[in-house]
Amino acid sequence: MAKYTLHNGDCLQFLRTIQSGSIQAVITDPPYGIKIGGNGKIGGNGKITAVKNYAPVKWDDVGLTAEQFQEIKRVSINQAIFGFEHLADVLGKANSVIVWDKKVKNNWDDNFSDCEIAWSNVEVPTKIIRHLWMGALRVEKGERFHPTQKPIAVMKYIIERITQPGDVILDPFMGSGSTGVACMQLGREFVGIEINKEYFEIASKRIGEAASQEVLFTTTRPTPPAPDGGDSAPSQALSTPDMFSAIEHEPKPAPRR
Ligand SMILES: C[S@@+](CC[C@H](N)C(=O)[O-])C[C@H]1O[C@@H](n2cnc3c(N)ncnc32)[C@H](O)[C@@H]1O
Repeated sequence: MAKYTLHNGDCLQFLRTIQSGSIQAVITDPPYGIKIGGNGKIGGNGKITAVKNYAPVKWDDVGLTAEQFQEIKRVSINQAIFGFEHLADVLGKANSVIVWDKKVKNNWDDNFSDCEIAWSNVEVPTKIIRHLWMGALRVEKGERFHPTQKPIAVMKYIIERITQPGDVILDPFMGSGSTGVACMQLGREFVGIEINKEYFEIASKRIGEAASQEVLFTTTRPTPPAPDGGDSAPSQALSTPDMFSAIEHEPKPAPRR
């Protein structure tokens, strides 16, 4: 069972407490700053189509900031960040992109994006993952908890491309916890931050359930030494400042026969 730590608070404040280079990868879907769903109805590119009514969205008024991105780069080795088309000014040149093709019918007139693009600093070939996800038309069944929820299959694809089993992955904009669920299913250690209390609780429940399910690890990597040459393991750098409420889950060792 993989380990996870979840924080309810502002990611910038938490990022500032993390040791430089102690996270293998930040894989995240930050606010794009396109004011999605101002009235609680979510469509694409600022046009609104009623799909499902959510609480009115305020968190998307401002996109990922330069300060947040600077901290993400400082704490992590690899990064994959959705919203490249909206955040190019902040993210700059990509070393690769991962395109999620939603496999929808070609239709110029609807309000939805046919694909989403994750920027990455990792020097790997540009890839496409094709995964159907459009309103009610989805391969992945189950309840939708967040207006911009990402499919677990897409998050797993990215995690497998840029990390190894046992690595620590951080999502500073965790939403309903899709990155964390994918990490639990792939045997990665997960650290998640979410500012909204309601989404934080949804993420805690989803990730807890995923962690309790049986996971088969193919390999495990030893904890890398701290970048400053010290003995501290990455997760020890992730102390919880007072302004966060946090959930920590350390799997118990299996009982010996
Ligand atoms: C695009 S959504 C992520 C959705 C997620 N990928 C999922 O599958 O549910 C971005 C999330 O970032 C959160 N957020 C916005 N600003 C934040 C901040 N400063 N610190 C932490 N979380 C923040 C929002 O509340 C929102 O849930």
